[in-house]
Parts: sequence; structure tokens; C-alpha cells
Amino acid sequence: MIEIDKIPSPCFVMEEELLRKNLSLIKSVKERAGVNIILAFKAFAMWKSFPIIREYIPHSTASSVYEAQLAYEEMGSLAHTFSPAYTEENFPIFMRYSSHITFNSLSQFNRFYPDTLKYRKKVSCGLRINPEFSVVETDLYNPATPGSRLGVSVDQLDDTLPEGIEGLHFHTLCESSSYDLEKTLEVIEQKFGHLLKQVKWFNMGGGHLMTRKDYNVEHLIGVLQSFKAKYTNLEIIMEPGSAFAWETGVLVSSVVDIVENRGVKTAILDVSFACHMPDCLEMPYKPRIRGAYHDPVEGLPTYRMGGSSCLSGDFIGEWSFDEPLAIGDRIIFEDMIHYTTVKTTMFNGISHPAIALWNRYNQLEIYREFTYEDYKGRMS
Ligand SMILES: Cc1ncc(COP(=O)(O)O)c(C=O)c1O
Repeated sequence: MIEIDKIPSPCFVMEEELLRKNLSLIKSVKERAGVNIILAFKAFAMWKSFPIIREYIPHSTASSVYEAQLAYEEMGSLAHTFSPAYTEENFPIFMRYSSHITFNSLSQFNRFYPDTLKYRKKVSCGLRINPEFSVVETDLYNPATPGSRLGVSVDQLDDTLPEGIEGLHFHTLCESSSYDLEKTLEVIEQKFGHLLKQVKWFNMGGGHLMTRKDYNVEHLIGVLQSFKAKYTNLEIIMEPGSAFAWETGVLVSSVVDIVENRGVKTAILDVSFACHMPDCLEMPYKPRIRGAYHDPVEGLPTYRMGGSSCLSGDFIGEWSFDEPLAIGDRIIFEDMIHYTTVKTTMFNGISHPAIALWNRYNQLEIYREFTYEDYKGRMS
């Protein structure tokens, strides 16, 4: 367990034991269900921890040229790539670093498939389908909304897939259960079942939150096994991101000031929701704070948490505490490893928290600290 008083503030700290616990579970699902599970970098790309990840899961996804290069350099394997659009300039780079390339539209496939035939090594091509069905209620995370730009709907496809398409890919889940996957697969089979018989692999995207406590892993394995039994021609691939880093670490911050305006007390922190926890504002959701009451309790000291940027909306609230907060107190935001370090910004020139691992020998390994040069270096 992380010893918070040994952590500098601010700092993202991931706990090795918790990461390994998630990795063991994911690897066991992979083996028991007989599917391939790979890491989606968009949720988590803390590459200094990849030697740990590789002990369990050797492959990853990429959705950009930089992610593809990172897969090659730091995971030591070729990426399963999907990007909404490739260009003449970047497609050769994607080919160099990818084993599988999924196209978002038939026009992209028609434009770039000939290039893959000329390439000296084989790249397996796939097509992203859009089942026009999703259980995800937040539109920002729902690729199946009417008019979505992601994936090809069934009405755009003939009964036979164009030559060269070896795989199909869908991604419509987000922090979802195995029951959500089951419902989605039913819709996909109704609409695309005949096409699934024509390909070699089927990528079920991300959003499978199999490491969440209440996730029914046995049910997932059952769903996957019965799907495989129907489509014996298919290699099944899943590419969750969040599930890998779910509940593996925290963001440690400190109270810098406490202000009060018309009875509302705000603890101003040395971190920012806008810069360091952007999903809290985008989704939006209220993160858990260690030792605090998640909902305000009458009679207890109660505060908003305010970010250190000048953005008016850079605050969330309110939480209650047993004792009044004081300058210098630590505020520990729970579950702050997935979709944080990959999305942070240096907006406003706000300093970036350090990134660290609390290793299994109970030592702190600082992976990275950020300086003025990082801020300056991003701009001209
Ligand atoms: C195509 C694709 N694959 C995988 C993922 C990873 O999803 P998650 O982190 O929810 O498991 C995403 C997330 O947006 C995605 O767009």
C-alpha cells in the first residue's frame, strides 16, 4: 500500500501490486476464453511500466502514428491499429509499426489497401463496423449515435466483403459489463452475422471493464466461448484500456489555500481538474477523495475542491471531512491512472504532477518529473 507521506505533491502514483492484480485477471480471461486481449494505449501509455505489462500481455492497440511507434519501441511488438483516417503521409509509418490495420470507411480501405499489397511484410486489413446500437448513455463516449463518423453501417455493405478485408472491428462499449457485450453481440450477429463468416478475426474493441469488482468474469468467459463456438473461423481480439489501469493508483495533491465566498468554502489545490483530471469535467463525474465523505454531511466541514488554473469552471464539489482542512493537507484523488496521464495538458502553464510507481518492494520509483522546459518546449 502506497505510503502517502513518502510521495511528493503533486504526483500520479501507480501501485505495482494493483497493476499486477489486474494483469493477472486479464491474462486469465485471455487464456480461459481462448481470445487475444491487448492493451489500448489511449487509456494508458505509461511506457516505463511496459516491462511489467509485457510479462502478461504482449500486444497493444494504436490509434495514431505515435502510439504505433510506442508499441514497436516500448512494447516490442507490432500494433493493432485503428485510426479514423489515414493519409498518404502517415500510412507508410502505420504499416511499418502495425500487424493489423482497421479502416474506418470503405473509401479509406479502397485508397490504402493497394499500398498494403506492395509492402514487403504482410499487414492484415480490417473494417470498423458500426452496429448502430450502444448501451453507453453519455454521447461523448457513444460511437453509435445517429450520424456517427465512426464505422460502416450495414446498409453501406454488400452481402460479400471486398477482397482484402480479413477482419471486422467494433467499439461501442465504455466501462461496460459482460451483459452489455452480450446484448451488443446479439445485434451484431443479426446485422453482420453473414459477414463474420467471411473474415479471420473479429476485434471487439474496448470498454470491457473486467477488472471492476462487480464485473461477472465467468459470464464474460461464457459469452466469449459460445460466440467462438458459432464462428470457429474467427480469432477474437479485445482491446480494453481502462480495465488495465482501473483502480491502480491515485493523484496526490495538496491544499494551497482555502477561500470562502458567500458561505462556499473552496480548497485550492496544487492540481487542476482541467489540466490533470479532464474526464471529471468532460464526462462529467465527481472523483472519490480518500478519507472524505463523498456527499456533503451537514454539520461537518465541507469544501469544494478548486483547481490551480484560471478557468472559472476548474472546480468540483462538495466533499465533507471529519476535521477542517488546513493549508498543506494532502488530498488524495482515487483511481487516477487511466485516461489521466494520457490526456493531461500544460494549459495556463500549470506545472504537471510527477509520474511515479510504488513498486512491490514498497519503494517509490519516480518515472518522470516535469519542468518549465517541458512547457516551453511544446510551443514556439
Ligand atoms: C477503438 C477503441 N478501442 C479501445 C478503446 C479503449 O476503451 P476502454 O479504455 O474504455 O476500454 C477505445 C476507447 O475510446 C477505442 O476508441
